[in-house]
Amino acid sequence: MAEAKDRVLITGATGYLGRRLVKASLALGHPTFLLFRPDTASDLARCQMLMELKMEGAQLLQGSLDDRDSLISALKQVDVVVSTIAGDQILQQLKLVEAIKEAGTIKRYLPSEFGMDVDRMHHAMPPGDKVFSEKRIVRRAIEEASIPHTYISANCFAGIFLAGLAQLAIFMPPRDHVNVYGGGDKRCIWVAEEDVAMYAMLSVDDPRTLNKVVYLRPPDNILSQMEVIEIWERVIGRKLSKTFISEDEWLSQMDKMPPFEQSAMAHFCHIFYRGELDFEVEGPHGVDGSELYPHYKYVTAQEYLKRFV
Ligand SMILES: NC(=O)c1ccc[n+]([C@@H]2O[C@H](COP(=O)([O-])OP(=O)(O)OC[C@H]3O[C@@H](n4cnc5c(N)ncnc54)[C@H](OP(=O)(O)O)[C@@H]3O)[C@@H](O)[C@H]2O)c1
Repeated sequence: MAEAKDRVLITGATGYLGRRLVKASLALGHPTFLLFRPDTASDLARCQMLMELKMEGAQLLQGSLDDRDSLISALKQVDVVVSTIAGDQILQQLKLVEAIKEAGTIKRYLPSEFGMDVDRMHHAMPPGDKVFSEKRIVRRAIEEASIPHTYISANCFAGIFLAGLAQLAIFMPPRDHVNVYGGGDKRCIWVAEEDVAMYAMLSVDDPRTLNKVVYLRPPDNILSQMEVIEIWERVIGRKLSKTFISEDEWLSQMDKMPPFEQSAMAHFCHIFYRGELDFEVEGPHGVDGSELYPHYKYVTAQEYLKRFV
């Protein structure tokens, strides 16, 4: 008889990444539970999303990060917890860490990470540094409480970075003109959100990922911004005009932007000007998701961009 799959609780299930994690968890056969927060009841889109996920097989558990008893009760019904709480709510997870510690039964916790490896980003520039430092606080609380964990470092989400050829707040590939950062030559890593979700779910019961950082680095998707632009140009059969923006120019525009864009611009600077996704995965705490799951067929950058034709 096949071994029963770990039961998974997903918090943040109606979110951008969360809904994809639910689908990946169900596809892998995990009994999948979603935290249905009281706040959700007044949000039509979120309620509908929860119901869609329920109809696909997920089970709803009422609870809130602010209600310890409801959290403990939910945690007692599962083996694994995956959080995809929003980037501006990261420290809320400290309540979840406390509850996981108290429940004492959770075999694996994946906190809301899914970006750059925050322990490599101590030098990050403000205001983009806030999310990194908060994720580090959560990491240290997890480790202090000896909670078995896996941190997923997902690099650049395709829908946010690749779809717009890395244009700020543009999520469809431009057809006429594109801004290029520096020479556009720094190696970046672009990962479709459904692949982020699947790699994360493949890792939840894998002994090789216990207490490790799993870096998502699909080999065909390790590409510079210019290489991505060239792929798009081949897909649409025409060249785009290009404006090359220096790092100084980029940083000089930051002050004029609203806070959210300022954070994004700071991340862009680390990724596209300073090439900070370009490093070799090192042990003993780092593992490469593509090497762990070589048979998983991820979406290549070219396949992803072809969706927009
Ligand atoms: N690498 C990348 O390119 C990239 C891009 C974007 C995000 N990320 C990271 O991915 C993770 C998830 O981001 P996301 O964009 O998927 O998040 P999101 O859609 O903005 O939000 C996720 C969930 O957070 C929960 N939430 C929001 N406000 C809350 C509150 N006040 N109290 C409790 N829960 C609250 C909601 O959960 P309910 O479903 O319970 O309502 C929501 O669905 C973050 O760590 C983020 O930094 C990485």
